[in-house]
Amino acid sequence: MTKKITKAVFPVAGLGTRFLPATKAIAKEMLPVVDKPLIQYAVEEAVAAGIDTMVFITSRSKNAITDHFDKAYELEKELESKNKADLLKLLKDIVPPNVSYVFIRQAEALGLGHAVYCARPVIGDEPFAVILADDMVEDGERGCMAQMVELYEQKQTSILGVERINPADTASYGIVKTAASSEKSARIEVIVEKPKPEVAPSNLAVVGRYILTPAIFDKLKNTGRGAGGEIQLTDAIADLLNDEPVLAYEFEGTRYDCGSKLGFLIANVEMALLHSELKADFSSYLKDLIKSDKL
Ligand code: G1P
Repeated sequence: MTKKITKAVFPVAGLGTRFLPATKAIAKEMLPVVDKPLIQYAVEEAVAAGIDTMVFITSRSKNAITDHFDKAYELEKELESKNKADLLKLLKDIVPPNVSYVFIRQAEALGLGHAVYCARPVIGDEPFAVILADDMVEDGERGCMAQMVELYEQKQTSILGVERINPADTASYGIVKTAASSEKSARIEVIVEKPKPEVAPSNLAVVGRYILTPAIFDKLKNTGRGAGGEIQLTDAIADLLNDEPVLAYEFEGTRYDCGSKLGFLIANVEMALLHSELKADFSSYLKDLIKSDKL
């Protein structure tokens, strides 16, 4: 029987040390790209893919994420009384009526694989999506996860979103080697977490978008500590390859590595250039900047 993807897991329990001091008291996923937190872009991508249950794997000091997806009564009342209809809509759209939000605490930061395993009681025996909010994907259309869900509906197997990266950067990613294919997706033969460039099987990197069958949970249950001493999702997927096909899919769109300061800045500049209120003024500012002696 074909099963639909209705749930997405958002691992948001990481410490965000690369963005300290900004992330001392708030989650890195709450950092805004222009005017919207990273986690909201990720949730909107899931909603666009037809997903209606958002499962956050959180930790202490991530309360801002829980609050962000809750109704803000006082603020709504205030905006209503001041007739600020546009702002009110903007607030209400964060929590669409047909979408549920589930929060699970990951007591210890044991790694991405462990975070996904924490979602097992909510996911049960269904295929599901995993979205890492610090990889932001903009495709100007339906969104990366919608592309992957469409592919899942045809293939009914696990799918990882991948892109070609600079071969010097393999040690920052899960890297796959695929069988030859004439399609945009190809069967994964090998997957390895954060290999050094000299031993990497390719430069095709997994970038924070997964559709996984529930078979991953039994694999995760038995996955020991891997790269960086953490329980790695990549290692469980490597184990899954022995039992069922897993596809790598080169999605359409631009991925911004918002887990790095440079990638985060680039995302802000490019999203500002797409922003209806800002694009005119911001692009004229950039043009002046290029002409100035600051660059
Ligand atoms: C995680 C995954 C890695 C993946 C990456 C994408 O690593 O473990 O396989 O390629 O996300 O951003 P992290 O960046 O959390 O260290």
